Amino acid sequence: MKCRNKSEEKMMKQEKDILFSERFFKASEVRHHYNTSVADHSERTAAYAMRICSWLKRHSVRISEEDVVRACLLHDIGMTDEKVSGSVSFRKAYLHPKRSEQIAKNEFQANEVQCNAIRRHMWPICLIPPKFREGWVVMAADKCCSLWEITHKCRI
Ligand SMILES: [Fe+2]
Ligand SMILES: [Fe+2]
Repeated sequence: MKCRNKSEEKMMKQEKDILFSERFFKASEVRHHYNTSVADHSERTAAYAMRICSWLKRHSVRISEEDVVRACLLHDIGMTDEKVSGSVSFRKAYLHPKRSEQIAKNEFQANEVQCNAIRRHMWPICLIPPKFREGWVVMAADKCCSLWEITHKCRI
C-alpha cells in the first residue's frame, strides 16, 4: 500500500473487489514506467489522488473519493490485455484507456464518472478532456505519479 494515513488506508481497503481480483494480480506482473508494475503504479496514483481530494475538500469542493480511487486503480488495467501491452508505446498510449474502460465496466461495474475518468486520463494526448471533476483529479494524479516514477524510482 502507498497510503500515508489511516483514512487513506481505509478508503483503499474498501476496494477489495479490485485489489484482490485476478485482473489486478495480472496487473502486478505487467511492467510499467521501466521499473514498476501497472498494479503498483495504480495504487500509487490512487494515493496521490486521495491527497488531491483532501486538499479540494478543505477548499469546499465536493468530490466523490470513491469514484476517484476506483478510477485510479483501474485507469491502466487495459495494459493487462496482451493486444495492448504487446503494441509499440505510442500506440499503447492511445489504446489502453479504451480497453481499461471496457474492463472497468464489464468486470468491476464502473459507473459513468469512473468510466469517463478512465477513458480521458491521457488528456491532452487524447484530445477530449475529462467530463467530471473526478476525472481531472485522476488525470492530474496520474501525471504526478508518472513523473515521480520516471524521475525518482526508475533511473535509466
Ligand atoms: Fe494510462
Ligand atoms: Fe497511469
